[in-house]
Amino acid sequence: MNLLEVCNICKTYGEGETAVHALKNVSFSVNKGEYVAIVGESGSGKSTLLNMIGALDRPEMGKVTIAGRNIFSMNDRELTIFRRRNIGFIFQAFNLIPELTVEQNIIFPVLLDYQKPDRAYLEELLKVLNLSERRNHLPNQLSGGQQQRVAIGRALFTRPSIILADEPTGNLDTQNSSEVITLLKEAASKYEQTIIMITHNRSIAQSADRVLQVSDGVLTDFGRCRE
Ligand SMILES: Nc1ncnc2c1ncn2[C@@H]1O[C@H](COP(=O)(O)OP(=O)(O)OP(=O)(O)O)[C@@H](O)[C@H]1O
Ligand SMILES: [Mg+2]
Repeated sequence: MNLLEVCNICKTYGEGETAVHALKNVSFSVNKGEYVAIVGESGSGKSTLLNMIGALDRPEMGKVTIAGRNIFSMNDRELTIFRRRNIGFIFQAFNLIPELTVEQNIIFPVLLDYQKPDRAYLEELLKVLNLSERRNHLPNQLSGGQQQRVAIGRALFTRPSIILADEPTGNLDTQNSSEVITLLKEAASKYEQTIIMITHNRSIAQSADRVLQVSDGVLTDFGRCRE
């Protein structure tokens, strides 16, 4: 089953002579539970594409369907709720809330949704993310890798159907990067979550089910690298 369908997306920034055609007729689909890496040179359009999939921005043309819903047909309120419940974002800059502890940062999206946090799942996540002993620390009391793991915990805690990650290991060393990716993959496979991850790291890309390359706004599907 296709969890994500991207159909003929075109995105242009600016107008006239300074216009940048950041995405040119991009189409692809992703199965439920699939782990897809997006690679490509700096400025090729990877983040623009991820922003469209997460409906953080709108294209001039094209359609994105997640779990059967056309995301651009929703109004802002519907979209906010849909995003909160279905999409987990992990950015290179961790975007943690500085005044909240590790634990509070992780459960925050669920509180925003007026839901009761699943305490057992919180414990499980803190354990797998190796953050149990840091649960009451503030972000500025954590290392970069620990902050990144909190951001991952926060993205996973709502059990989204799709996780969009923009260079989630960009600020981490090799050891921490591979640990973070392993954790993310384990959690995603346990709950059959789909991952779309932008990475410049070749070995991380090779660990994906499929690699898509963006080159000057054009997407090429390199197919499955492992079965
Ligand atoms: N808000 C914006 N206004 C104008 N141009 C933009 C804007 N955002 C991105 N661009 C341009 O669109 C193109 C694609 O940018 P994008 O951020 O998607 O690249 P990227 O592949 O994510 O690069 P990187 O690997 O450096 O993060 C670039 O040429 C960029 O300069
Ligand atoms: Mg980018």
